[in-house]
Amino acid sequence: MAVKRHQDPDDNPAERQSSSTAFQEILKRRFSKRTFLKNAGLVAVALPLTGIANASSSISKSSSLSFNEIAHGLDKHLHLAKDYSAQVVLSWGDTLFSNAEKFDPNKQNSLSQLKQFGFNNDFVAYMPIPHSKKKSTHGVLTVNHEYVNSTMMHPGSPRAFELSLEQIDTEMAAHGLSIVEIQKQENKWNINRDSKYNRRITPLTEMKFSGPARGHKRVKTEFSPRGENCMGTFGNCAGGVTPWGTILTAEENIQAYFSGNVRKTSEYESYKRFGLLGSKTAFSVWGKYYDHWNINKTPQAAMQAGWVVEIDPYDSSFTPIKRTALGRCKHEGCGVHVNKDGKVVVYMGDDQVFEYVYRFVSKNKYQPIDRENNMSLLDEGELSVAEFTDQGSIIWHPLQWGKKPHTKDNGFESQADVVLDMRKAADLVGATPMDRPEEIKVNPISGNVFAVFTNNSIRNPLNTDAANPRAVNRHGHILELLPPEQDHSAREYKWEVFILAGNPDSKIDSAYYHSDISESGWFSSPDNCSFDKNGNIWIATDGFNRSGKADGIWVSATSGKDKALSRLLLRAPIGAEICSPCFTPDSKTMFCSVQHPGDGSRFDQPSTRWPDFDENMPPRPSVIAITQDNDKIIGT
Ligand code: FEO
Ligand code: CA
Ligand code: CA
Repeated sequence: MAVKRHQDPDDNPAERQSSSTAFQEILKRRFSKRTFLKNAGLVAVALPLTGIANASSSISKSSSLSFNEIAHGLDKHLHLAKDYSAQVVLSWGDTLFSNAEKFDPNKQNSLSQLKQFGFNNDFVAYMPIPHSKKKSTHGVLTVNHEYVNSTMMHPGSPRAFELSLEQIDTEMAAHGLSIVEIQKQENKWNINRDSKYNRRITPLTEMKFSGPARGHKRVKTEFSPRGENCMGTFGNCAGGVTPWGTILTAEENIQAYFSGNVRKTSEYESYKRFGLLGSKTAFSVWGKYYDHWNINKTPQAAMQAGWVVEIDPYDSSFTPIKRTALGRCKHEGCGVHVNKDGKVVVYMGDDQVFEYVYRFVSKNKYQPIDRENNMSLLDEGELSVAEFTDQGSIIWHPLQWGKKPHTKDNGFESQADVVLDMRKAADLVGATPMDRPEEIKVNPISGNVFAVFTNNSIRNPLNTDAANPRAVNRHGHILELLPPEQDHSAREYKWEVFILAGNPDSKIDSAYYHSDISESGWFSSPDNCSFDKNGNIWIATDGFNRSGKADGIWVSATSGKDKALSRLLLRAPIGAEICSPCFTPDSKTMFCSVQHPGDGSRFDQPSTRWPDFDENMPPRPSVIAITQDNDKIIGT
């Protein structure tokens, strides 16, 4: 998300306790560059660029993508390529249970909201019912509600500090996740309001801890005196899906929810490194009424947030589990992959400027018919962080307690300290500070990893490097990570630039795409990505309207002669970002989130009333289902 109502924390670098490590290293490397790339705005280094626009290659073939792309633009409507339809499946306020109260935006209350679809939906996962059958017409949909925007949510457009307690409770109830059964009949997706799967999860839902930080004193609070359970989830951005039929939801901008004087807590150094300042943020008003979000009254509560949470969407009584072995940061999402040796690999980005890319490799192996075994795979394994060298390699540095530098000498008493202060652990091993790492996923066809970096408006010429090659990276980029012989537990990979986003006609942007890129094929601020069954990458953007164009979904082949030739399929209504494109197994339906339509305006005078276009209804964040009118695979 782009956090509104307060200064965007993603654009402020968190203070490093050993800030010298990263910056000095980059300076050193900068002066040992090899050759100059011709593009004026780029770093003076030979970039490992992806092999594209190479029509003469014998292995090149045309991609299967064939649709008439739409034009860039910006208006109050959602636009799709010809012969495609978008059905609004769920909007903020829609009832999820047959006994729920019908939504009235002028009479909102927390109890009703607990049975309705929440606000600002982000991550979307479709999982077939039953999980073992790859059905594309019947499933359970899991959706994150990342945050709310009070000026868009309440009549009168109140600012955070003007909210009543009931309004705060309603906002709280609009956070978390919705889980709902859906079925496709005659090309239309319907929700089942009487389903046993349907569930709302909120910042007040009780959860458990597992892994190294479970039971540790730094996660103990009055609510959780043994440090084994905790309250709720919030700031849920993107996520991931496991092959054993659970979802992972990623807690991202949790620092915006706590208020108080951080200096007066024993966690000051840690919170500072996290960017948790206790200052006036969008949701710091929660701490006015609830001690849990007041950092001076409950100093360890913020240690209970910033995790990856595993949820079983097939069991509405399941207690969500915070998997602490995956570390604590501003988690964007989780790209889950079963390695060729059966170990489970999770790729994770920490979305803030100059933060890092992480990897977890499970100790034990995935067993397709032993779900109980699989349910503990994310509790034990090796966490590591990526160093991207200017020579085109990635070195994964382990974050393992007991081995230098993760020892008592540096303040780590156990692996619990390593996962609680994952950023600090990563600072010590020379991880490469990146341009806001967002989604990182494995291409199911090639087995290569695609890592999306959304932008970095404060990178400068002195701290560019080959993997973050542009000073003032306004538009973001996508790297392709290549594990040797598809071994995702290898210590070293190669990497290449896939796309440097921005306008290819702008010299300042220094963009890099396939040379045949069209007028509307270029984009800005990539955030989420997904792959269809043919291995094409679908890219959703967040922040494009900074350049006067709407956000949307672009698609590109990832191999062959059309590699990095992105094309625009869908354009968002004004103010909205698009999140989390997600396919049914047959790739004939693509779900995605339209988050914060009308953002930048107000409830009373919205810039769009998408999707209802009803004078009595504000714009509503929604999940849409995209299909082709002839029922063909999306994009073909
Ligand atoms: Fe919530 Fe990193 O976008
Ligand atoms: Ca984003
Ligand atoms: Ca995001």
